Amino acid sequence: MRITDTSDLWWKTAVVYCLDVQTFMDWDDDGMGDFTGLAQRMDYLHDLGITCLWLMPFYPTGDRDDGYDITDFFGVDPRLGTHGDLVEVIRTANDRGIRVIADLVVNHTSIQHPWFRSARRSKDAPFHDFYVWRSDEPPDTSDQVVFPDAENSIWEFNEPTGEWYLHHFYKEQPDLDVTNPKVRDEVAKVMGFWLQMGLSGFRMDAVPFFLDTVGGDQKDFPDPHEFMRALRAFLGRRVHGGVILGEVNLPHAQQAVFFGGPEGDELTMQFDFLAMQALYLSMARADAGPLAKALLDRPEVSPDNQWATFVRNHDELTLDKLSDEERAEVFAAFGPDPSMQVYGRGLRRRLPPMLDGDPRRLRMVYSLLFSLPGTPVLFYGEEIGMGENPELEGRMAVRTPMQWTDGPNGGFSQAPPRKLRRPLTTGGYGPEFVNVADQRRDPESLLSFMKLLIRRYRECPELGWGGFEVLDQPHASVLAHLCRWEDGAMVAVHNLGPEPQTVPLTLEGCDSSHRLEDLLQERSTPLDEKGRAELALEGYGYRWLRVVAEGSRRLL
Ligand code: GLC
Repeated sequence: MRITDTSDLWWKTAVVYCLDVQTFMDWDDDGMGDFTGLAQRMDYLHDLGITCLWLMPFYPTGDRDDGYDITDFFGVDPRLGTHGDLVEVIRTANDRGIRVIADLVVNHTSIQHPWFRSARRSKDAPFHDFYVWRSDEPPDTSDQVVFPDAENSIWEFNEPTGEWYLHHFYKEQPDLDVTNPKVRDEVAKVMGFWLQMGLSGFRMDAVPFFLDTVGGDQKDFPDPHEFMRALRAFLGRRVHGGVILGEVNLPHAQQAVFFGGPEGDELTMQFDFLAMQALYLSMARADAGPLAKALLDRPEVSPDNQWATFVRNHDELTLDKLSDEERAEVFAAFGPDPSMQVYGRGLRRRLPPMLDGDPRRLRMVYSLLFSLPGTPVLFYGEEIGMGENPELEGRMAVRTPMQWTDGPNGGFSQAPPRKLRRPLTTGGYGPEFVNVADQRRDPESLLSFMKLLIRRYRECPELGWGGFEVLDQPHASVLAHLCRWEDGAMVAVHNLGPEPQTVPLTLEGCDSSHRLEDLLQERSTPLDEKGRAELALEGYGYRWLRVVAEGSRRLL
């Protein structure tokens, strides 16, 4: 292990946990989660084993897009607490070895942001040039809107100036003009501010839109990637080990560009949206092929970069990169009712209901998530198997309050239910059946299983650091892969189908002096003189195996 390689790149073996303060824990009983409630739950998060907390937007907001429309980049939504309360959260987290990052939403502001309120008044108003305008009638752009249920153009007419402004998302989210150096300086200032408050980096929202210069009128703007490089360098100067985890839902080849190519000097990490979508296709077909292909298609990235893996997030489960037929297959398997679908491209569901609550399948998927090469990201509530509330509008279905107990409001708040920020999930996934208190002391619970996966992931540097190979074996429903780093190697086998399988494997470079040690259970499998073994897998079975050479010092 080389010192230059390891601890500084903490995020290569991190476990990231995303939560929204407003729906996590309400400590002052006004129905809205708050920083104090979150601080009270820090030991829970520490016990779970996460090492990085990603806070969804906590800034003052116009409340059009659940906090992703910000009215003050330097502020804290007073309903959640104060800057002081946030600092206590960061401090409490850091004390337990957890770093905190937060959403950086700088592609756009809220329409109510003072910049835009000024900008829209007249063509020479202060801040007019912070936004992107056009004075001629826009063409049909209905195919470019992100929220087709609410918008039919990315341009909105502004009466006082007789111009149209650009908004990729809701019309209440006007896009900032990144070609304007003043805007670029403000973005850096926002980052600098929150880093000074103790954040370890950002989850950068909607990066391709943010760097998009179409419609900008500052002619001498350099390559937007130069700006991204400048931001990354700025971050590195301000905070040792600072990260930018970028939301870039583009084909892998384009993601490579957002990493900064071989230099790796732009986004530190990116979500692997392609592998995530392929995972669902693989599950729908009980065929590991699409997932294996997506993982093998990942471009080589610099050691300074990392893929972030995930199963669900706060948005719709987007399937936009699948073909129409493939998407239809996933819809049919996991969300056949049109009410479960959204924007024609995704599902507004959490994982357990999609799998009809099948615990074997659920555990297999999380075992897969934690054994794939990359840094796993969890969305709050996944660790206890929360479901969605289909009664809520659009994507809000998956953003219901955290379920702590089977008591009133799931222990989230003591406010009267009508005052809650958002209703809880009801029915079979409601707090009565799914909650932290019931699972905490139950060694057989999903929560206990998640803790085990997290612990093992952290003990297997091969997963965060290593090279990845798909191993040959005869079953379409099985993914067998190997991660290798320095003298360590581990094999993971997952059965995406319901039938038990026996998986023959040959491990190159191994012989009968090696053996396979199961990491999730007590079991040891010898290899023969040619490095061969047969592994038994149940339907939806999964095994993690460390390749042990004689004299190995790796943890078993
Ligand atoms: C990102 C966020 C999403 C938000 C959008 C606009 O895609 O994940 O929740 O609506 O950006 O900020």
